[in-house]
Amino acid sequence: MNGRVLHVVGTRPNFVKAAPVVAALRAAGCDQVLVHTGQHYDERMSDIFFRQLGLPEPDTDLGVGSGSHAGQTADLLIALEGELSARDPALVIVYGDVNSTLAAALVAAKLGMPVAHVEAGLRSFDMTMPEEINRRLVDQLAELLFVTSPEAVGHLAREGVDPGRVHLVGNPMIDTLLTHLGHFDPAAARAAYALPETYGVVTLHRPANVDDPEAAKAAARALTEAARLVDLAVPLHPRGRAALGAAGLDGAPGVHILEPLGYVEFMSLVRGATAVITDSGGVQEETTVLGVPCLTLRTTTERPVTVTHGTNRLVGHRELVPALRKVLDGGQPAPEEGPPLWDGRAGARIAAVVTRWLDHHV
Ligand code: UD1
Ligand code: UDP
Repeated sequence: MNGRVLHVVGTRPNFVKAAPVVAALRAAGCDQVLVHTGQHYDERMSDIFFRQLGLPEPDTDLGVGSGSHAGQTADLLIALEGELSARDPALVIVYGDVNSTLAAALVAAKLGMPVAHVEAGLRSFDMTMPEEINRRLVDQLAELLFVTSPEAVGHLAREGVDPGRVHLVGNPMIDTLLTHLGHFDPAAARAAYALPETYGVVTLHRPANVDDPEAAKAAARALTEAARLVDLAVPLHPRGRAALGAAGLDGAPGVHILEPLGYVEFMSLVRGATAVITDSGGVQEETTVLGVPCLTLRTTTERPVTVTHGTNRLVGHRELVPALRKVLDGGQPAPEEGPPLWDGRAGARIAAVVTRWLDHHV
């Protein structure tokens, strides 16, 4: 074993969360390796984030790609076992709740390598979500658990996780937002996508909203109706694109379907939006910090702090239009105080804990 830290990333939200941690550990002089699993691989789902967020080129891209849950996870396990064995790091850092996160934590634990989990302890209590399965298992395997909001500390305690391993550090996704805030230009984004002065932004990609044709139809119907109130810019994740198109969203008046956007372009649109409609985890957090009203098309959220300390509301398909009307009438103000420690310093706090841990364990 050496004193090296190995980060495993694979998907769009991983890149946004890892960037400030990698930067803070670099500033602390830490020896680091960045492994990309290749779970996301399109230029617009991957490369553009490395360029815009100042992430270093990955030391390895395992090129695992897409597949069924079992197929993709199996490929991830095999590829990561070879990579981690060869690199022999002192600590493996994993992010969020995607299949790459679970696979990396499982491989590392079986190889006897300590794991740090960034964004530990979030719970939707909905085991039909693949992410809920992933995050629960990763938290059982982790040696260091970095938590973004206070209720997560309680969830981990109830699951028997040693409190000495848990560190409430704030939210690295918000570090990234605050670092790049000066580059978000709503007027330029509006012009680029030919949007009127007042518009909403929509992202949808959760299996519960887009995989089942009936659910996709209900979502497309609700959005078509919402677009009668305000134009909607809809950058679609590849997962939802075909289903929502087939369900009738393409060509609906006021609906502007877009390719997945780069981080700066996306956040520029969000910053200037009157409302955001989403099922994304990260977007619930970003809208809270930007003070943009967010309507989340889900029945649960693993991020309740965005409701209690932010601009987020959970809505069903039928509630969307009345909720949007309320937002457009100015009836959904933001609370005065945001979530604790979402101040742009999460990466530095994580780096401080990691370097202290390395000093004691290597
Ligand atoms: C994954 C995560 C989800 C996260 C989302 C963020 C899991 C279980 N899910 O979902 O938690 O919210 O990333 O964006 O890990 N595809 C492309 N190009 C790409 C990547 C994917 O076309 O670069 C298409 C493929 O058809 C693929 C499908 O999208 O089958 C789904 O990709 P996958 O990585 O399996 O899951 P996501 O839906 O992206
Ligand atoms: N994002 C982006 N372009 C887009 C959609 C999303 O840059 O077209 C960014 C945004 O910062 C978001 C992050 O990617 O928070 C992760 O998004 P996603 O919704 O894919 O993942 P989730 O947070 O739901 O796991």
